[in-house]
Amino acid sequence: GRVGVLLGGLSGEREISLMSGTGVLEALLSKGVDAHPFDTGLRCPTELAKEKFDRIFITLHGRYGEDGTIQGLLELLGLPYTGSGVLASALAIDKIATKLVWLSSGLSTPEFQELKADSDWNAVVKHLGLPLIVKPAHEGSSLGLTKVKSVEELPAAFQLAAAMDKKVIAESCIIGDELTCPLVGYGNDAEALPVIKIIPPQANYDFHNKYFSDETKYLCPTGLAPEVNLAVQELALAAYRALGCKTWGRADVMLDQKTGKPYLLEMNTSPGMTSHSLVPMAAKAAGIEYAELVLWVISQTLN
Ligand code: DAL
Ligand code: MG
Repeated sequence: GRVGVLLGGLSGEREISLMSGTGVLEALLSKGVDAHPFDTGLRCPTELAKEKFDRIFITLHGRYGEDGTIQGLLELLGLPYTGSGVLASALAIDKIATKLVWLSSGLSTPEFQELKADSDWNAVVKHLGLPLIVKPAHEGSSLGLTKVKSVEELPAAFQLAAAMDKKVIAESCIIGDELTCPLVGYGNDAEALPVIKIIPPQANYDFHNKYFSDETKYLCPTGLAPEVNLAVQELALAAYRALGCKTWGRADVMLDQKTGKPYLLEMNTSPGMTSHSLVPMAAKAAGIEYAELVLWVISQTLN
């Protein structure tokens, strides 16, 4: 059938989405699929109704793309799409709602609290320790994120995040390895791909180091003990199932260097598919080339 690749969008991750979408579109075309781009930032998404698509590959990231809104429209149009449904997408875009679900399922995630303009900064530091992380609750790719090293830095970190989002989260900073684990499938049939270890320059995996730096190193296999990899995969799968995710996703995890315990940071329900992105890298380590991965993900919309 005719596949629409949704790209662009209106979030802070628009540029990343254009890269993801171009990659996915080229892969589908290389496999002989009748695929067409649709830029939801330039065109009104309701025009999707006129396009006669049979199926949709979503490569939108962040708000109005990964948050349940476009998913709701596609449900109304009766179009199968990649990524999670309305509820899981809306939960996963909100880092606080996500953590509440994980905690209620007994899954480990760093201590956190919502920050407000009138928060008691000293109490926040007392609760979460230093350094701590401040970020918008609904952004991706580290946009608006600050690693706060002293209480004096907290108000500016809050302002930066609050300029992007009505909801701001402060989180304890886990010191240790930065890991990520892609997931494909649904429910009990979901499976984890190999874990990736990310080694950014100056231990700072920010927007630039995510997409544009050639100094960021990625290890897949991670070089960690097999039981550690397995524990991270199991935690990622449990996190995916707890949120009710489907077709695919990617859990970001920190491994505490003191205790060896993994902590869930967030779930990405429309993971990046750029040349620097992590799901294609893990798939490659499992022997699955980029175009095969794209076909595998879109085949999941049939389930
Ligand atoms: N939010 C970006 C696109 C990712 O997680 O890959
Ligand atoms: Mg993210």
